Amino acid sequence: MYQDKIEEIKAAIAAADANTAEELEAYRMEFISKKSVVGQLFGMMGQIPNEEKRAFGQLVNGVKNLADEKFQALIEKVNSSTSKSKSREIDLTLPPSNQQLGSIHPLTATRQRIIEIFERIGFNLSEGPEIEDDWHNFTALNFPENHPAREMQDTFFIEKNPDIALRTHTSSVQVRVMENQKPPIRTLSPGRVYRNEAISARAHCIFHQVEGLYVDENVGFADLKNTLYHFAKEMFGKGTKVRFRPSYFPFTEPSAEIDITCLICGGKGCNVCKGTGWVEIGGSGMVDPNVLENCGIDSKKYTGFAFGMGIERITMLKYQIKDLRLFTENDARFLKQFSPLMT
Ligand code: PHE
Repeated sequence: MYQDKIEEIKAAIAAADANTAEELEAYRMEFISKKSVVGQLFGMMGQIPNEEKRAFGQLVNGVKNLADEKFQALIEKVNSSTSKSKSREIDLTLPPSNQQLGSIHPLTATRQRIIEIFERIGFNLSEGPEIEDDWHNFTALNFPENHPAREMQDTFFIEKNPDIALRTHTSSVQVRVMENQKPPIRTLSPGRVYRNEAISARAHCIFHQVEGLYVDENVGFADLKNTLYHFAKEMFGKGTKVRFRPSYFPFTEPSAEIDITCLICGGKGCNVCKGTGWVEIGGSGMVDPNVLENCGIDSKKYTGFAFGMGIERITMLKYQIKDLRLFTENDARFLKQFSPLMT
């Protein structure tokens, strides 16, 4: 009668199949493990009459071998069909794959260098929101009610009445700092700004500025000039000269545009500087007393200077990049040329 049982098990082994690791394990439990049907056959030996033990043993071993062979076959089948096993087929003789390392974005490298230069002369860092209200972006900065910069063509408004807009310059951070801190204030505020301008090689609707603000007793225009002379030499090299051109901003008086000697022609005049030998990097001036008062600072006691420079502009001059759109196109061939060591 055990012959029937054994035939039954052989048939079951022949019919068994496995396509996954789980099914393989189920097969092992059913036919290979100690508690499996085959394992149980060995346990029956005690009940078999002595004269039949030898024949029984041979039969049971035969089943066991059959179960083992089938198990090996199923293992191979499952291994060759799952990706897990494919990943195990590593060819150690292959050369290593080329690991692409990332690089610092040129604008980040420039921003870091600017921060480093000003931190060494006592400026701390501050920041403000990119979504601003009218007060911080315009009114506190002494913009007259009808100033063209408030109008739609320059500013991305998010809400009207009360006006909420994407900040058009980092000067809004000046206001936030002066409202919250007492002089002496020496702060640098790098950040993203937005203007409704057509995108071209020289302009973008999103770009970066770095704002500087220094408020204390007896701060004068000579301090502004010397600070920016120092910056230009550190950033662009010893021979770089700075020129201040009279200008107008509602929040500074007097105001001046900051030019540096053209790095392309060294001041001789070329098409980048349009033959003048000078290129503009930002605006500056003495903080208008109205702005100090708007922010709760006594303008009889304190004076200050401020400047705002374009980070794209500085980066383009430093690395002689001709098209500002390259910064946002994410072409790795362009971006990976800039390492922090270059700054
Ligand atoms: N906010 C001015 C601009 O965006 C630059 C500026 C900053 C001018 C600080 C004077 C003082 O053009």
